[in-house]
Amino acid sequence: MREIRAAVIPSSGYPTVIETLNLANPGPGEVLVRMTSSGVCHSDLHVRDGHWVRPGPIVMGHEGAGIVEAVGAGVDPALVGRSAALSWYAPCLRCRECQRGRQWLCSGSPALGHAQADGTSRLTRADGSPVLSYLAIGTMASWQVVPETAVVPMPDGVPAEVAALIGCGVSTGVGAVVKTAEVPAGASVVVIGVGGVGLSCVMGAKLAGAGRIVAVDLNPAKLDLAADLGATHRVLADAADGAKTVAAIRAAAGAGGPDFVFEAIGNPATIAQAIAALPPGGTAVLVGLTRYGQQASFEAFPFVDGGRRILGSNYGSAVAAVDFPRYAEAYLAGRLPIERLIDRRLDLDDLEDAFDRLRAGQAARQMVMHPA
Ligand SMILES: NC(=O)c1ccc[n+]([C@@H]2O[C@H](COP(=O)([O-])OP(=O)(O)OC[C@H]3O[C@@H](n4cnc5c(N)ncnc54)[C@H](O)[C@@H]3O)[C@@H](O)[C@H]2O)c1
Ligand SMILES: [Zn+2]
Ligand SMILES: [Zn+2]
Repeated sequence: MREIRAAVIPSSGYPTVIETLNLANPGPGEVLVRMTSSGVCHSDLHVRDGHWVRPGPIVMGHEGAGIVEAVGAGVDPALVGRSAALSWYAPCLRCRECQRGRQWLCSGSPALGHAQADGTSRLTRADGSPVLSYLAIGTMASWQVVPETAVVPMPDGVPAEVAALIGCGVSTGVGAVVKTAEVPAGASVVVIGVGGVGLSCVMGAKLAGAGRIVAVDLNPAKLDLAADLGATHRVLADAADGAKTVAAIRAAAGAGGPDFVFEAIGNPATIAQAIAALPPGGTAVLVGLTRYGQQASFEAFPFVDGGRRILGSNYGSAVAAVDFPRYAEAYLAGRLPIERLIDRRLDLDDLEDAFDRLRAGQAARQMVMHPA
C-alpha cells in the first residue's frame, strides 16, 4: 500500500480534482508502475466534459508511460525496472477477437470496466471507498496498478513522453494509415483536423510514402506543424462554409482527388466533408470520436455508384505488444518524429488549464510530467 496523487473526476461532466489516494499492491496478473508521463488526449476531454458517460469517481488519463516497479503473482519478474508504454485497451487474450488477432476489438478487456480483470480497483480514498481508473490504466496519477497485458516494454533510448504518446495518439493516427487503411506508396491522403491524432495520421502518411498529404484545420499554427511533419499541402478550413472547404480539399489533393480522407476530429460536419471530398473509389477513414448519439449523413446514390468506402478505425487497429515496439523503433530511426507533437509540459495541478487549451483547439500534445 502506498499514497499516490491522481487527477480524479467525481463523474463525467465535472472538473478534475487532485486527490491523495491509497494504492494497493498489484494482484495476480497486475503490474505496479511509477508513472513518468501522460499526454492530454481529446478523449480525456470527452469524458471530462460529459460527452461520454463514464462511472465515477475515476482517475483520468489513458495515454501514459512509466517504469515497472513491481509485479504481481504470475507476471514475469524481468519486467521490473523496464520503461513501458501503456495500452489503453489491455487485451484479455482469450476472446474470439483476441484469438483472431484483432485485440482492438477485445470483448473481455478490463478497460471496459475501468478496473482490474477481477472487476475491482486497487485505488481507495482515505474512507476506504474505491476509485476507478479510466480504461483500467488511469495514467494521470503518480503511480498505478495496471493489467499485465497493458504493459509494453520500450526499447532503450525512448524518452518517457514519446512512450506515452505511442500509448494513444501515435498508435491511433499512424495505425489508422498504415494498419486500418493500408495506404499504399504514392497515394493522395487528406487529414481533416491536425491535433495530436491528426498529426500522427500525417506522420503515418509520410511513413507510408504517400504522394500528397493535405492537412486541413481551422488553426493556421496547426497547419504549420503539419507541414513540418510531412504535409505537402495545407487547407485552412472555413468553419461556416463546408462546401468551400471540400472544394479546397479536392483542389489540393491533385488530379483524381484524394484516395483517402482521414477525419480526426469527431464532428458530424467534418465527417460529411470527408465523405463529400472523395472521388469514385476513394475511402473515408473515421478516426475522430463524436459525442454519444450523434449521426452523420451523406448522399447514398453517388456513394454506392462510385464504389466509395467508409472505414471506422479504433486504436489504429493496434496490437500493442507488436505495434508499440515497431513505432518506437521507427522513432529511434528518425522516421517518426513523435517528440515534435509536444507543445507543452505541465504538472498534474495544471490539468484543467490544459483541458481549456485543448477545448479551444490551441494545443498539439500537452504532456503531464510526473516527478520521480
Ligand atoms: N479512434 C480512436 O481510437 C481514437 C483514439 C484517440 C482519440 N480519438 C479521437 O480523435 C479525435 C481527435 O483527438 P485529438 O486529441 O487529436 O484532438 P485535438 O483537439 O488535439 O485535435 C482536433 C483538431 O481539429 C481541429 N478542428 C476542430 N474543428 C475543426 C473543423 N471544423 N475543421 C477543421 N479542423 C477542426 C482543431 O483545431 C484541432 O487541431 C477526438 O475525437 C478523440 O476522441 C479517437
Ligand atoms: Zn487518446
Ligand atoms: Zn479479448
